[in-house]
Amino acid sequence: MTVIHLKDIEYSYKANTPILDIEEFKIEADDSTFLFGPSGCGKSTLLGLIAGILKTSKGELQILDTNFANATAIERDRVRAKYIGYIFQAFNLVPYLSVEENVALPAMFGRTHSLKFSDDSEEVRYLCDALGISQFMANPVSELSIGQQQRVAAARALFGSPKIILADEPTSALDTDSRSDFIKLLLDVAKSAQLSILFVSHDLSLASHFCHQVSLRSINRARQ
Ligand SMILES: Nc1ncnc2c1ncn2[C@@H]1O[C@H](COP(=O)(O)OP(=O)(O)O)[C@@H](O)[C@H]1O
Ligand SMILES: [Mg+2]
Repeated sequence: MTVIHLKDIEYSYKANTPILDIEEFKIEADDSTFLFGPSGCGKSTLLGLIAGILKTSKGELQILDTNFANATAIERDRVRAKYIGYIFQAFNLVPYLSVEENVALPAMFGRTHSLKFSDDSEEVRYLCDALGISQFMANPVSELSIGQQQRVAAARALFGSPKIILADEPTSALDTDSRSDFIKLLLDVAKSAQLSILFVSHDLSLASHFCHQVSLRSINRARQ
């Protein structure tokens, strides 16, 4: 099953200077894809479109059962809240909330815990265990190291088994060893929940962890 399908989409921040012009880009269910390209080539912009945060009205932008090119902001928000886990470059954690409260945040935006857990807190505990942060569950995230905060961001994105994980250079603040460890962990947990992952980065040394590798420049006719 195809979970993300872009066809003839274009996006510009300012009129007449397209940042993205993509003929076709597809992601299948249960797949992991590494999308790479230098800084400024449009990776975050593409993730913003796929997440429905940015909007284009040109072409087809099929995300699960919804064409985001025709959908309203409310419809896009609903699909994102329910089915898309987003790991931001700067994590976007809420500093004064504890680790467990941060991980459970998607539940406040319409996502329910996965069926294999009996309630939200059981799933939060499972994810914190799987990502090695269970000893910090009650601590405010501001007390954690960058590497630990990144795991909190991953646990939050994975909560409720969304169908799609979008990861925007989430390893850029880590050293090389921790980068590989983090990606392996993320892919393991995602695989056991049968999620699709789209991971973007400028760092080609991470590419081999993923099933597919795509150069944004090779599919982008606007060529930033
Ligand atoms: N909010 C914005 N307003 C105007 N231009 C933007 C905005 N965000 C990004 N851009 C421009 O779009 C291009 C692609 O940026 P971005 O998608 O962030 O690239 P990447 O994530 O690959 O580094 C860059 O030229 C950047 O300056
Ligand atoms: Mg970016």
